[in-house]
Amino acid sequence: MRQYRIQGGQRLLGEVKIGGAKNAVLPILAAVCLNQGETIITNCPRISDTFDSIEILKSIGFRVAFTENTLKITAGDGIKHEIPDEYAIKMRSSILFLGALLATTGRASLALPGGCKLGDRAINLHIEGLQAMGAEIIQQNDKLYCKTDGLKGTKIALDFPSVGATENLMIAAVNARGETTIKNAAREPEVQDLARFLKALGAKIQGAGTKTIKILGQNATTTKVTHKIIPDRIVAGTYLVAAAMTKGEITLQNVDPFDLTPVTSYLKEMGCTLHANPSTVTITAPTLLKPIPFLATKVHPGFPTDMQAQFAAALTIADGNSQLTESVFNCRTSHVKELRKMGAKITLTADKCTFLIEGRPKLNPATLAAHDLRCGAALILAALATPGESLVQNANYVQRGYESIESDLTQLGATITLEKI
Ligand code: EPU
Repeated sequence: MRQYRIQGGQRLLGEVKIGGAKNAVLPILAAVCLNQGETIITNCPRISDTFDSIEILKSIGFRVAFTENTLKITAGDGIKHEIPDEYAIKMRSSILFLGALLATTGRASLALPGGCKLGDRAINLHIEGLQAMGAEIIQQNDKLYCKTDGLKGTKIALDFPSVGATENLMIAAVNARGETTIKNAAREPEVQDLARFLKALGAKIQGAGTKTIKILGQNATTTKVTHKIIPDRIVAGTYLVAAAMTKGEITLQNVDPFDLTPVTSYLKEMGCTLHANPSTVTITAPTLLKPIPFLATKVHPGFPTDMQAQFAAALTIADGNSQLTESVFNCRTSHVKELRKMGAKITLTADKCTFLIEGRPKLNPATLAAHDLRCGAALILAALATPGESLVQNANYVQRGYESIESDLTQLGATITLEKI
């Protein structure tokens, strides 16, 4: 058990480099199963979800070496089709091995995926899409058993542009016979990064980043591939909000300012000044943040759900009332009760999807508990902005997605330590 100890109230100032994106590397680590050669992944974040994905790869027969931020993965003799339960239930992204293993071995079995508890998190779109491609899937005692005598390309229209389902079907389609069309596909930058990786393997993919993706199957080859993971736009967004909440001025290096627009546009609305160069973004915060009358999470290119908790924290100290709606997940609210421990005025509507936030000049320091990854990030930001000492327990959630948030924030002048309890 670990916790963050934070002495809040200091302005964040300076520069920090942003690492590779969690939500880009996780699907790519599943897609690695398609390559019988050597895969080198650079700019790979050293976060716990990466380490758990590596354990999955090793358990099914890959050799993996992880040096600094470079991963070298080599296929062994024969890939196993069973994912050990302990890793499947830890992470949502373990479900992406379903498409990858079906495409490679014709079989896959894994426990129903875990991950942060943000609401229902159904997997029907993954299952229905793979079934439409010719997979037989049986669910027994919280476990999925899947097989196919060869996946076939087909047309799949997703009811919702699920990031994970789009990625699973893209990976599966690489080895399928004929063309697969995914309509109402997710357009997130991480989906586009997966497409770039699959293309490097030789896959023929068109339309990633648009609502229709086409994959012409059976074109990938066994090869040596090197791929650089895109910058993590959510880590970057988290640090921008940290600067906004501490009246700071920071520059982020190694970011894609275009991918950050759905976040930076709302920071501007809150009164922050932002300057972008090709790979850097600088934020200068005002002395008092403005509220946002209406803000709702949406799929990309809308305001990202993975920034909702951090903005909720920022709006609690804005100069007026805000309304924030979560529309991607049906219960992403665990930060609310923790922020209330600091004196935040947040009312949840009956459906628990809209937060009515009454901004106040400052919060009180408190002992807080992270209940999921972004909840933990939001609590750290609230503590940074609050004079006095706060604790954020359950650091393991934060370590799922931030390589070393305490070092990055220390570099920016914060007083934060990670300690064992
Ligand atoms: N959904 C279904 N059926 C499905 C799949 C999804 O109804 O078969 C619903 C979910 O219940 C949810 C919504 O669709 O309400 C969005 O789910 P999606 O599948 O798009 O999300 P995901 O693939 O499970 C990824 C990220 C999340 C991020 C979401 C949305 C990874 C590993 N995870 O999850 O990241 O919030 O997309 O952008 O890529 C995080 O980083 O903190 C995080 C939770």
